[in-house]
Amino acid sequence: MGCTLVLYGDEPPLPHPNLVLARRFGAEVRFTGDPRRESVDAGLEDAAAELRGAGHRPYVVPRGGARGVATLGYAAAATEAFEQLDAVGVEPSLMLVATGSGVSQAGLVAGLAAEDRRMRLAGAAVSRPVDETAERVLALAGEGAALLGAPAPAASSVEVHDARGPGYGIPSAEGERATALAATHEGLILDPAFTAKAFGLLLRLLAAGDVGGPVLIWHTGGTAVALAHRAAGSDL
Ligand SMILES: Cc1ncc(COP(=O)(O)O)c(C=O)c1O
Repeated sequence: MGCTLVLYGDEPPLPHPNLVLARRFGAEVRFTGDPRRESVDAGLEDAAAELRGAGHRPYVVPRGGARGVATLGYAAAATEAFEQLDAVGVEPSLMLVATGSGVSQAGLVAGLAAEDRRMRLAGAAVSRPVDETAERVLALAGEGAALLGAPAPAASSVEVHDARGPGYGIPSAEGERATALAATHEGLILDPAFTAKAFGLLLRLLAAGDVGGPVLIWHTGGTAVALAHRAAGSDL
């Protein structure tokens, strides 16, 4: 199966590690030539039409992979986490995850519904305003739950906090504090766009006395972004 990626903007003069990796993994990469992230949506349709015309059968994956079926990965991850937590007898008072397109958080919400587990789950919204993020998460979680044959999650199961700081992809002071703490205390690498902001939210909730016990925080990756950011001159 081939892979065609549609990215917004233009080919950067210095390739980002994610771009290098994508090509190394065999992807064909196209740029929309438009700096707006939404330009990817039409770019995907154009690429799909072209591939169809060439006799291929493209399966279009939207930005963030945000489709109901994509929630099933994190729903399964929730089930696996519960098995591991039950094995060691730990009941988190809170689960935290970074939320962009919302599909990861939606998967966890759907997983909780499918397992009939009540557990507080909070998403650190890194790209969209809180209300818009929560709506997306609830809609995607509903799609995921339906695929799993689970009851539709209630709006009250979707907790979202604003963790954007100065904006999507731009480091926040809170996230940078969390990054330093995670690096020096645990040797844990956080990326500035997602995981740093989720860990930053944890520090905020702790400072507000809003955490009553063990916390399970999902480290969702982003290592290539983290290293590129540090290599570009950040001081941690
Ligand atoms: C490292 C990392 N964490 C979290 C997310 C957010 O996931 P979602 O789009 O499912 O909300 C992303 C999305 O690109 C990511 O790269």
